[in-house]
Amino acid sequence: MTQRTFSIIKPDAVQRNLQGAILKMIQKAGLRVVAMKMIHMTKKQAEGFYAVHKGKSFFDSLTDFMCSGPVVVSVLEGPDAISTYRKVMGATNPASADEGTIRRAYALDIEKNSVHGSDAPETAAEEIAYFFNQLEIVG
Ligand code: CDP
Ligand code: MG
Repeated sequence: MTQRTFSIIKPDAVQRNLQGAILKMIQKAGLRVVAMKMIHMTKKQAEGFYAVHKGKSFFDSLTDFMCSGPVVVSVLEGPDAISTYRKVMGATNPASADEGTIRRAYALDIEKNSVHGSDAPETAAEEIAYFFNQLEIVG
């Protein structure tokens, strides 16, 4: 089933100039970019985006990190895009991420783990709409 998911190349990866390397892994998995832009989030935007994690021990540090530098937000499309991208990303903690995944290759630690990907159709739709309007999705 053709599906869309939402991706962020996080500040740790953009800072190390890894956008191209990460996109290559995404595209190799059969996902196409149908929208993309570079942004620098405010603390409020990061808190809104990660609202589901509000109250958790890592929330303040995570949202500080996510607005510490520019990120690349994109909409990816392809067969089973949500689970396909989660597989390419690898586990949240890079120490547990499989060989060949983005996080295994590039994540620095459990927080600075280089990429975000939606986890379900509802969250994908919400996250896409948080950063993109319809006119910006061109695939
Ligand atoms: O990103 P993913 O869906 O794999 O993990 P999550 O459980 O939804 O957590 C969101 C983000 O919070 C992670 O990607 C990490 O950047 C951060 N996090 C953290 O700093 N410490 C944890 N113990 C768990 C997550
Ligand atoms: Mg998540």
